[in-house]
This record gives sequence, structure tokens and C-alpha cells, in this order.
Amino acid sequence: MSIKTKIVAAALAALAVTGSIASTTTKAEAHGPGWGIGAGLVGAAIIGSAIAGRRDEVFLVSKVLPSNASKRATIAACEKSLARLKTDRLDCYLLHWRGSYPLEETLAEFERLKQQGKILSWGVSNFDTDDLDEVASIAGTGHPACNQVLYHLEERAIEHAVLPWCRRHGTAVVAYTPFGQSAVFDARSRKGRVLQSVAAAHQATPRQVALSFLLRHPEVFVIPKASAMAHVAENAAAAALDLSAADLKAIETAFPLGPAPRELPMI
Ligand SMILES: NC(=O)c1ccc[n+]([C@@H]2O[C@H](COP(=O)([O-])OP(=O)(O)OC[C@H]3O[C@@H](n4cnc5c(N)ncnc54)[C@H](OP(=O)(O)O)[C@@H]3O)[C@@H](O)[C@H]2O)c1
Repeated sequence: MSIKTKIVAAALAALAVTGSIASTTTKAEAHGPGWGIGAGLVGAAIIGSAIAGRRDEVFLVSKVLPSNASKRATIAACEKSLARLKTDRLDCYLLHWRGSYPLEETLAEFERLKQQGKILSWGVSNFDTDDLDEVASIAGTGHPACNQVLYHLEERAIEHAVLPWCRRHGTAVVAYTPFGQSAVFDARSRKGRVLQSVAAAHQATPRQVALSFLLRHPEVFVIPKASAMAHVAENAAAAALDLSAADLKAIETAFPLGPAPRELPMI
């Protein structure tokens, strides 16, 4: 299957299964409570074609790189994304990570984009609590709409402070790379066997268990990249899985929280 066919197939599968697709300036991703397809700039254009005529069914997210998040460049970067995606608006626009331009400047441009109807909301990515505090002090309550952060079974750092901050402020947490290192799904490993055993009790798969564990927090969305339609369907079905307290305990024991990090992990 060509990469173009794969991206279109994944976009349509994500749309059919989850009703939502997100894309970034550097990658494209689908999420609902979270199903992703990965693609580059070309991918964004292909997604634009795949969702043509179905824009209202899609929740479309894109990110601005910190190097473009200045007073002069933010709006132009967003307009380029809109053109690539062949749409007139994004449902949410994110600052990819904290950069060197003053946040006041970037957030003022986000608000301008909102007034212009080019974005319906804005959020951030890879923001620790000090940066989140700064956003809240500039923009007030209800901001940011979301914080997209690294979160998977073996990297639970956000649970120490970022997740509680987001819960207190009504900010959605979007977990990227929610499968982490695929090695944890190897049924020959101790951790793999724990996931396998919980999954078997629910007629589910270990990856569904992993996603369901992250989704136990109501503010968390997950965005696993998936280009295979079977993967999109499998991941989407994780939303229906209801882990028991005993399941959660077994997973907590196999994948302990770990100490609070000095810096928020990101990739
Ligand atoms: N904000 C940030 O700084 C940041 C950083 C990194 C990533 N992200 C975003 O996070 C999203 C998620 O990316 P990712 O890190 O999850 O991608 P990834 O680790 O690069 O790819 C996920 C892999 O898992 C496979 N997979 C998905 N579902 C599966 C299933 N049910 N069974 C077996 N394999 C499965 C996919 O295979 P197939 O493709 O063959 O289905 C793919 O190979 C992306 O859209 C990315 O843009 C954001």
C-alpha cells in the first residue's frame, strides 16, 4: 500500500470509528479519546482531501512550532495549516512546546485567530505546571483548552503535578505516544504477562488495557498513531473497557508511578 493510500485509509478509518481527526504542522494525527495517524506535511494535504465534504464530522487540531509562535508569524503559520488541510478553521490550535517568544505574544495571536474564526479554541503541548500557571495568569480561567503531553504506562510523570493541575483548571490532558515502548506488550516479559492476563479477563487486548489504564482519568484523551485500520478499530474499542480496582492495582504494581521528575519528559 502506498503511503498516500495508507494515510487516506487511516484518516477515513479514524473518521468512521472515532469521528475525529487531528493534524499538526509537522505531523497528522487522529484522536477522539484518541486515535492517531502519523504523516508529514504531505500527509496534512492528503488528510485535507480525505475529509473533504465531511469537515463538520471532524475535530481538527494543529500545532504551531515555537519558532513560528511570534506576533508576526503565528497567524501566517495557522493560515498555512488551514490551506494544507483545505479547511477554513481548526477546532483547536496548540503551541507545540514552550519556546523563546513571550507567551503573551503567542496567546494574543491565538485570541486574534479565534476572533477571526480561524480557530475555535487553543491549547499547549509539553507544558509543565510553571508554564501552565503562566498561561492561566495571562489568559484567565478556562485556558488552556488542553495540554498534549507524553503519557504511557512506563512514563507516568504527569500524574505527579501536571495532571492534577489540569484537573483543577478544567484543562484536557492529551496523551501522546500512549503505547510507549512496544516491548511492554511482549507476552514473554513479566509486564507483558500482567497486561495479557488483565486483557484475557475482559476479552480485550493488552494495548486496549494500556489505553484504558490511561483513560481512567476522566480528563485524559489518548492519541496513539495508527495507520492500520485494524489498529484504529482496536484502539477505539478501548474506550468501552472498564477496568476493575483489582485490574488497576495489578497494573499499578507492574508499572509503578516512579519519582516526580525534575523536568517534564517529552520526545
Ligand atoms: N506533542 C508532541 O510533542 C508529540 C510528540 C510525539 C508524538 N506526538 C503525536 O502523538 C501521536 C501518537 O504518536 P505515537 O507516538 O503513538 O506514534 P508512534 O509510536 O510513532 O507509532 C505508533 C505505532 O503503534 C502502532 N500501533 C497503533 N495501534 C496499534 C495496535 N492496536 N496494535 C499494534 N500496533 C499498533 C502503529 O502501527 P500502524 O501505524 O501500522 O497502525 C505505529 O507503528 C502522533 O500523532 C504524534 O504526532 C506528539
